[in-house]
Amino acid sequence: MAYLIGEKEFFGLRFKVDNRVLVPRPETELLVEAIIDKAQPGERVLDLGTGSGCIAVAVKTERPDLRVTATDVSTAALAVATANAKRHKADIDFVQSDWFDALAKEFDAIVANPPYVADRDAALGELRFEPKIALAGGQNGLDAIKAIVSQARAHLRPGAQLCLEHGHDQAPIVVALLRGQGFERIVTKRDLAAHPRLTIARKV
Ligand SMILES: C[S@@+](CC[C@H](N)C(=O)[O-])C[C@H]1O[C@@H](n2cnc3c(N)ncnc32)[C@H](O)[C@@H]1O
Repeated sequence: MAYLIGEKEFFGLRFKVDNRVLVPRPETELLVEAIIDKAQPGERVLDLGTGSGCIAVAVKTERPDLRVTATDVSTAALAVATANAKRHKADIDFVQSDWFDALAKEFDAIVANPPYVADRDAALGELRFEPKIALAGGQNGLDAIKAIVSQARAHLRPGAQLCLEHGHDQAPIVVALLRGQGFERIVTKRDLAAHPRLTIARKV
């Protein structure tokens, strides 16, 4: 329906959407809350795989003091995100990047809603509008999460947080991956349907 209307509401803001991007989901608002609740004034926030730009724009709109960078490997998605940032007058630094490849900076927080659907999941075969690159996470859905977790430490200052959305059955493996990379203070949060969908960890 959002694709037919060409818009979707997220965090109280209206976002342009089309077949270049994932339609923002309500559970992803938890990522925005995690960032805006904890960030100190002026901190640098990185939104990886920004899609429509919903997370980056919502964060910047709620907390104009934060310096927000948003990336996507898809230039098509970045065009949509840039239009949404302009629409909401959100000053965001957009970078085309395969996860961290084009990023040299350190950040105070990294947030990502990466593709995490397993290749065998019937939902991928049934996609009519959404781009496969936004959802397909490899054989067990963890390819993108593993890539992000393994590279994030190098781009986080000590004490900074990594916030990841993941599938409802992926929390234990995401926690194990984060522990394996030396992250601490790992907390998993539940969405409104009580599914564990968001894990936050700190670099110590
Ligand atoms: C699940 S969508 C999330 C979009 C948006 N952040 C949201 O929450 O609605 C995942 C996004 O990651 C992007 N992506 C996929 N592979 C990527 C990669 N290797 N590097 C950067 N972004 C990637 C996709 O293009 C897509 O926009």
